[in-house]
Amino acid sequence: MGTNGTPPAGRRAAVVAGLRTPFVKSGGEFKSLSAVELGALVVNELLARSGVAPREFDSVVFGQVIPSPTVTLIGREVVLRTQLPRNVQAHTVARACATSIQAATDATDQIQLGHSDCAIAGGAESVSDAPIFASRPLAQALVDFSRARSLGERMKIASRLRPRDFTPTPPALKEPTTGLTMGESAEKMAQVNAIPRGDQDAFAYQSHRRAAAAWDEGRLDGEVMHVNVPPRYERAVARDNIVRKDTTVEALGQLRPVFDRRYGTITAGNASPLTDGAAALILMSEEKARSLGLRPLGYIRSYAYAALDPRDQLLQGPAYAAPLALERARLQLSDMDLVDMHEAFAAQVLSNLKAFASRAFAEKELGRPQPLGEVDPARLNVNGGSIAIGHPFAATGARMILQTLRELGRQGKQHALLTVCAAGALGAAVVLERE
Ligand SMILES: CC(C)(COP(=O)(O)OP(=O)(O)OC[C@H]1O[C@@H](n2cnc3c(N)ncnc32)[C@H](O)[C@@H]1OP(=O)(O)O)[C@@H](O)C(=O)NCCC(=O)NCCS
Repeated sequence: MGTNGTPPAGRRAAVVAGLRTPFVKSGGEFKSLSAVELGALVVNELLARSGVAPREFDSVVFGQVIPSPTVTLIGREVVLRTQLPRNVQAHTVARACATSIQAATDATDQIQLGHSDCAIAGGAESVSDAPIFASRPLAQALVDFSRARSLGERMKIASRLRPRDFTPTPPALKEPTTGLTMGESAEKMAQVNAIPRGDQDAFAYQSHRRAAAAWDEGRLDGEVMHVNVPPRYERAVARDNIVRKDTTVEALGQLRPVFDRRYGTITAGNASPLTDGAAALILMSEEKARSLGLRPLGYIRSYAYAALDPRDQLLQGPAYAAPLALERARLQLSDMDLVDMHEAFAAQVLSNLKAFASRAFAEKELGRPQPLGEVDPARLNVNGGSIAIGHPFAATGARMILQTLRELGRQGKQHALLTVCAAGALGAAVVLERE
């Protein structure tokens, strides 16, 4: 870094290209594809479309949030399953819903340090392929069984098991410290920040309307590949299948709360759905992009991660990370032409926006005299967000960087702020610039 916080000339990290699969409701069209298969699909297609020769790449940073027992290092597996040369080194990252933000900022750091010139960063998720765990007694019995030396010993082990031990355990979207699911934590935020159900539904409606318009007007065409679906490869999925063009505020208002059935406000309509998909970016030093004659989509200007106590407001991390990222960029919220906030739940977005604008929050939580400010709704999530588009956990950050940089380009604008909330009460924020 230079003395004023900027990288040395030529070491700015440029995003030169990106691509994602359509985002598909879990248990649907992509159910036979694993995360690594989705990741390899998108990286191969990105390589082909970008025209950057595979030999130019020196590293891959990739992530998946739901761990796979068979593919423990997705970063390296992506290299081995694509046209990339086998000597491209790779690592895997995990930062819950901010995983591919982490992948992109890791690649940025390596480029700025001069350790990398040309990298792929991204993430893939298959919620459909989530591992199902055996209960502890069953797992222990299976281990003991494999070591048993006689039929008698095996019978004894089998006799320990009760019918309930055979019930499989799916992975929970639960916070280990609090025992609350994401949805329950978002319910709590809706109450603490007084976010009415009507506002949540109106926000979800807007997410669908904007995403549907973005698709209809062709704005997402260049960033989403089609996927031919195994095993027969006869059908292609070319669009996100969660976006509802026809949803209404009335229909959303009729959905039953899911996480607190009696008094809750969060429904399947104002929450992000469980989703399968993958997204990837090509990052290069500015110099390398220039030498290859490429015009970058834009640059990662700054970023920040922050955290709060998960027993407080689990998904409020963006309100802590955004001021830091803006400070590191030496910019204000008012300089941002676009703001893209990951929509885990409408209640979480609206809670964070309230915190952005609150003097009391700034003083008490951030030790700052001024709040960050109000976000102009016309600049926020202009092409929809995770509620409508879907949220394959590890792919969302790369999807947001790509979508936002392309939108900046379309509008001929310069700066954007991205934020992502994540499990563990983490928050991520990135400032993007186009020129
Ligand atoms: C909320 C959740 C439990 C809902 O799952 P689900 O029940 O499978 O959701 P569905 O898509 O089947 O929707 C349920 C109903 O709502 C309806 N619905 C959903 N979105 C709608 C919309 N925008 N407009 C109108 N109706 C809608 C569906 O049509 C369905 O109706 P039906 O029961 O008559 O078929 C699940 O998506 C979830 O767990 N999400 C949270 C994930 C999470 O934690 N994300 C945060 C990570 S940071």
